[in-house]
Amino acid sequence: MKSLSLFGQKFTKTSGITELMQDLGEAVKNNDPETCMLGGGNPALIPAVMDTFRNEMQHIIDNKQFDKALGFYSSPQGENQFISALVDFLNKEYQWGITSKNVMLTNGSQNSFFYLFNMLAGEMEDGSTKKILFPLSPEYIGYRELGLSDNMIASQQPTIEHLDGKQFKYHIDFDKLTIGDDIAAISVSRPTNPTGNVVTNEELAKLDALAKAHDIPLIIDNAYGAPFPGAIYTDAELYWHDNIVLGMSLSKLGLPGLRTGIVIAKEEIIDVLSAMNGTLCLSPSNMGASLLTRLVTSKEIISLRDDVIRPYYEKRMTDALALAQSIFSDLPIHIHKPEGAFFLWLWFKGLPITSKALYQRLKARKVIVIPGEDFFIGMDEDWAHQYECIRVNYAAPEDQLKRGLTIIKEELLKEYNLI
Ligand SMILES: Cc1ncc(COP(=O)(O)O)c(C=O)c1O
Repeated sequence: MKSLSLFGQKFTKTSGITELMQDLGEAVKNNDPETCMLGGGNPALIPAVMDTFRNEMQHIIDNKQFDKALGFYSSPQGENQFISALVDFLNKEYQWGITSKNVMLTNGSQNSFFYLFNMLAGEMEDGSTKKILFPLSPEYIGYRELGLSDNMIASQQPTIEHLDGKQFKYHIDFDKLTIGDDIAAISVSRPTNPTGNVVTNEELAKLDALAKAHDIPLIIDNAYGAPFPGAIYTDAELYWHDNIVLGMSLSKLGLPGLRTGIVIAKEEIIDVLSAMNGTLCLSPSNMGASLLTRLVTSKEIISLRDDVIRPYYEKRMTDALALAQSIFSDLPIHIHKPEGAFFLWLWFKGLPITSKALYQRLKARKVIVIPGEDFFIGMDEDWAHQYECIRVNYAAPEDQLKRGLTIIKEELLKEYNLI
């Protein structure tokens, strides 16, 4: 199209996230039983979780809540009963002392991060430009194209700690971390998509202190973390104060179709975000909020997390790790220590082709993974490591995971000339 604005043109370029969503869409549409869908960020359909949501939905249908949830716009800040329930819940669990003025809802945390990054960074009133700093890369692919201005993300290489059992862990390289005047905020996903890394309590405390010292917010994307869905298998403190912007989501709890994100921040930030909702979508969806209100008020969400969701993902993680360690035992592979979320991040040291080329080969064999290079946003192109990794979603059905990993091994054996 000839007459697209610069804004419109931005969306004509293929981005990692668009390509991923298209491949996922195709694979789901074709419903081919041979396809191993190890690519998306979809949570597992856990039967007991879906039963809980089905019952809750029935409860809403049987009550007047149905009319309210479907037949009314909420305020731009989001459905107020859910916000109040969440405020009480979080204050009891964490003693944060927040009020309803500290919480707002969006149509998914992807939506939240679009708002947040663009309200803080990009072109400033004085003509300067500011960036969002990712202190640890690789980071969530979905952030990549969110900036309305170019080059809105700054990032840096992590350090790599080698661990037993072919595992490794990325750490923030604090010695090299520089926060200049052009940095508008520090942002980190914890647990991290794609690696399953959980930035340690010490690292988070250092980031927190740096953000305060530079008078910029620390944004924590907690889509997989506590208090729900709680897909986190290591000791990780969750805290909030008014220099932290905490993003949460109902998606990884099993409700990606309901598009509900939550932001907890100081009032001035919540006001701007709510005004963005008002302008861009009038009000966020009510359905996820309505479905969760009773579960949050009664704290049943905690037993659902502790008795069902976390044990489910933790077992899938342990099994997937053991499977990958055994299938790839003869290959020069390292696996990021899976501490949270539901991904295995596989690093094939010295991989003779790029991870994108490997992705295409695997796609031809009906194995959908995500190539690693798109997760290294704003990274120095010379760093070979970024072309040597792929992300595998282990929330996929077990048979698909096993078949998929076996096919990945076959392709790697050819590449490394080991057959
Ligand atoms: C780290 C992270 N943040 C945000 C999102 C966006 O999630 P949603 O918009 O479904 O809440 C995802 C989705 O995969 C994610 O992995």
